[in-house]
Amino acid sequence: MHFPQYRPRRLRRNENLRRMVRETFLRIDDLIYPLFVQPGKGIKEPISSMPDNYRFSIDELVKEIKDIYKLGIPAIILFGIPEKKDELGTEAYAKDGIIQRAIKAIKDSVPEIIVITDVCLCEYTSHGHCGVIKNGQIDNDATLELLAKEAVSHAEAGADMVAPSDMMDGRVKAIREALDRSGFSHIPIMSYAVKYASAFYGPFREAAESAPQFGDRRSYQMDPPNAREALREAELDVGEGADIIMVKPALPYLDIIYRVRQAINRPIAAYNVSGEFSMLKAAIANGWLEEKRVVLEALTSIKRAGADLILTYFAKEIATWLSE
Ligand code: PBG
Repeated sequence: MHFPQYRPRRLRRNENLRRMVRETFLRIDDLIYPLFVQPGKGIKEPISSMPDNYRFSIDELVKEIKDIYKLGIPAIILFGIPEKKDELGTEAYAKDGIIQRAIKAIKDSVPEIIVITDVCLCEYTSHGHCGVIKNGQIDNDATLELLAKEAVSHAEAGADMVAPSDMMDGRVKAIREALDRSGFSHIPIMSYAVKYASAFYGPFREAAESAPQFGDRRSYQMDPPNAREALREAELDVGEGADIIMVKPALPYLDIIYRVRQAINRPIAAYNVSGEFSMLKAAIANGWLEEKRVVLEALTSIKRAGADLILTYFAKEIATWLSE
């Protein structure tokens, strides 16, 4: 059927018609809010490159999470900045580490919120890499043991889900087996399965003080031009027992989210990372873009590409707008 029989504009004439044929919805239920926690008391330190985001001490973090849960956001993901860093990132799996203490405090006051923990070593190692260094190289298999220990210690502290972001080969299996052995077979793994070596993580590394002190992450994170490799990574992690598959970053990788959605029969999460957030915030602050419209459009695009869940620093704004 051709013009004038078929006129697509007929169904765009007013908001009720548009509502009736709308295909994609961003929901509060889709949102996971990332939070940074550091030692100390009464601290709510602004992150300069990420407006409205802070590094919280545990007491302030708990207050913030009460507000987040009131907004209806079902889940948070925690990143820790430890007191001290060392070669092996021992604070990452210390019983009284910053994350372990934070989880307990959150579970004491907002027990229902889903607490996801980022499982990685880069925030805890003196060299800032996501793995153990041997002879100047990242030793994959030696790292697995530490990641498994970290995941178990998060679960022991009360975490509801663990999210390995290190990109070592075989870590999902190592973590799954360690969790199962320790009585945590009910704790799901959200794997950063498809994680690119992206320039968009810049503001996060400032926030988490996790920039590598030498070299870069390109020997473990994925090369941005690759798409078929994303499917191999996702398939491997499904095979190793991942419950949710994540693609990261999100907006520059919508094609990857789409492909992973077609290939993988698991919930798909996408991480709208720090650089994507800061970029929009900067344009909004300059008056170049209209905040509510541009944020909802960008985040809805991630859903349209096929993501079920979105990790985003915009979660509070979105939850507020969606419940208006
Ligand atoms: C830890 C980790 C990073 C991010 C999440 N987990 C940084 C990195 O890999 O360098 C980035 C998140 C963001 O930019 O918002 N490995």
